[in-house]
Amino acid sequence: MSEKAVGIIGIGSYLPERVLTNADLERMVDTSDEWIVERTGINTRHIAAKDQPVSALALEASRAALGKASFSPSALELLIVATVTGDMPFPSTACVLQEKLGAFNAACFDLNAACSGWIYGMDVAWQLVRCGRYRNALVVGAEKLSAITDWQDRNTCVLFGDGAGAALLGHTSSGGEIIASCLGADGRWGKLLYMRGGGSLCPASHETVDQRLHYIKMEGKEVFKQAVTAMAGAAEAVLEKAGMRAEQISCVIPHQANMRIIKAVARKLAIPFEKMCVTVDHCGNLSAASIPVALDEAMRGGRVRAGDYVLLVAFGGGFTWGAMIVKM
Ligand code: ACO
Repeated sequence: MSEKAVGIIGIGSYLPERVLTNADLERMVDTSDEWIVERTGINTRHIAAKDQPVSALALEASRAALGKASFSPSALELLIVATVTGDMPFPSTACVLQEKLGAFNAACFDLNAACSGWIYGMDVAWQLVRCGRYRNALVVGAEKLSAITDWQDRNTCVLFGDGAGAALLGHTSSGGEIIASCLGADGRWGKLLYMRGGGSLCPASHETVDQRLHYIKMEGKEVFKQAVTAMAGAAEAVLEKAGMRAEQISCVIPHQANMRIIKAVARKLAIPFEKMCVTVDHCGNLSAASIPVALDEAMRGGRVRAGDYVLLVAFGGGFTWGAMIVKM
């Protein structure tokens, strides 16, 4: 086993063209721009076209990430797609993406840890590249949440959007590297955030469609409280693992579910809000795609520079959570 520095060598993201505003939602359900902005911080979100499955979003993000590193798809050795909205139950979206990308030398699998999926994928890929099993890995977080959103349920339909982000991991000599990571889960909370229909528990039928079981269901208030506690806990745990203090972090990329959650996490960690990257205002909640999309935006906008320590922290259905510190 070799132990060389492994870091992010390319990152990219993609948001679909169509933008859905709060004013649009006012025409669909009993809601208001004022309620949505005050309770969530969301103004707009992107919605994929009917003929754009999640693999199409993943393809755009992957091409952008590989392009930044001038990396040929044929050199890719591992391809992980984190998603809860795969093109179909099987084959995996990673295999669909492999064909579209032409990455035929890569092992491929999907990973489901809901909104924490990309951090879970990064942790797995980091270990596999670090120990020498693969020389590189592409970790994609991609979601078409509009496909499992109940557009008649005002409690959830204002929250989500579609998009994809991807990071290419490999050995680095520039000083950039992943420093530490930690993951956690607690299946006892699964009842608060789920989609019941379509699996082996409730296979798709006329009844499951009539009962609207193919849509996201969420107990928002309880999820909110647990999200703040779990994200702050994961961030503290990864800082301790890395032997670092919060002051050394230049930028935090939290899962983007709700502006109030991001503010509460910053307060709990005593990190100034200015260090928190925010995309929830124009993307909504992108589940597994939210962190790589926000990281790519932060890089492109100059908020994250070479040598910066960035803290990534996620929370999602399961419940699952995770945090990672990356030197860029
Ligand atoms: N427009 C207007 N009113 C609304 C809307 C809406 N879109 N949605 C709910 N309301 C109403 C409710 O019906 C309720 O009315 P009532 O008091 O008459 O019963 C009232 O607003 C308050 O509803 P709450 O659910 O208590 O509102 P809350 O302040 O908790 O905000 C929200 C709801 C935004 C969902 C919040 O709880 C939240 O962000 N939760 C966390 C979501 C999250 O973190 N998800 C992370 C993981 S997501 C994933 O893994 C896929």
